[in-house]
Amino acid sequence: MTSQRPIVKAVVPVAGLGTRFLPATKATPKEMLPVVDKPAIQYVVEEAQAAGIIDLLFVTGRNKDALENHFDRAPNLEHALLDKGATALHDELMRIAELAHIHYVRQGNPLGLGHAVSMAKSHVGDSPFVVMLGDDLIDSRTPILPAMIEAYEKHGGSILALMEVPESEIHLYGCAAVEPTDNPDVVRVTGLIEKPHISEAPSNLAVIGRYLLQPEIFDVLAEQEPGRGGEIQLTDALAKLAEAPELAGGVHAVIFRGRRYDTGDKLSYLKSVFQVALDREDVGPDLRAWITSYLAGNV
Ligand code: G1P
Repeated sequence: MTSQRPIVKAVVPVAGLGTRFLPATKATPKEMLPVVDKPAIQYVVEEAQAAGIIDLLFVTGRNKDALENHFDRAPNLEHALLDKGATALHDELMRIAELAHIHYVRQGNPLGLGHAVSMAKSHVGDSPFVVMLGDDLIDSRTPILPAMIEAYEKHGGSILALMEVPESEIHLYGCAAVEPTDNPDVVRVTGLIEKPHISEAPSNLAVIGRYLLQPEIFDVLAEQEPGRGGEIQLTDALAKLAEAPELAGGVHAVIFRGRRYDTGDKLSYLKSVFQVALDREDVGPDLRAWITSYLAGNV
């Protein structure tokens, strides 16, 4: 048995403007862009549910009604599907509406990821919680949350997820300075830099969008000065906790070696759609055959 407090809540920042996907995101939240036939955000909610976390707080902004509708009941549509005999689809819609208890808070003025997380203070209260970023989808065959919760039960404090990336990409991520532990998949984080220039990156270990945080983060965020891009950065607040373990139990990280799909920019998003589709039994084989033929110039 662990003496650590259980993780029952997740915070999901979804207030971003989605400017990289305009005009597709003019009237549709980027989190609703489909990855094959499910909106990206549904993968995140299913990932939380698979880890036993069904109390979710979405930190939203303007034009995000579609997110609320997606996870709500839709009586007219449900009846129409039943009338048509489309029971499998009806059951799938019911399942989506029952995936989680989703709460909403508006960020108002989007001042950065750290600011979005700080909006969760009154919902989260005095318990540890996870933060899940919708741009990062984790393949359900290689989950990361269970390993993070295990690391938390052993080490306490905050737990990050890190992934090795090519040096040329480290400027796109938070980057961690680390020390080994007795487990090759878990490291102690001694420092963090948000989106460093390659010359100042302490490693090739990139922060990916899953965090297990202690409520003390809210005090640090409240004092946090704007950082990279003029935004209140979660990475900067976590750097303080990493450098002063006495504040909130320090910071450890799990090295993620599984499959992650990045939906944060156009090219990565397209790659993600293809990867997920090629793995699907219903469309994968035909898509693979078509791509091969297309690339050979036969289509
Ligand atoms: C955010 C974080 C960054 C992290 C990344 C993971 O950046 O600020 O530290 O590495 O998510 O996806 P964003 O991609 O939102 O700019």
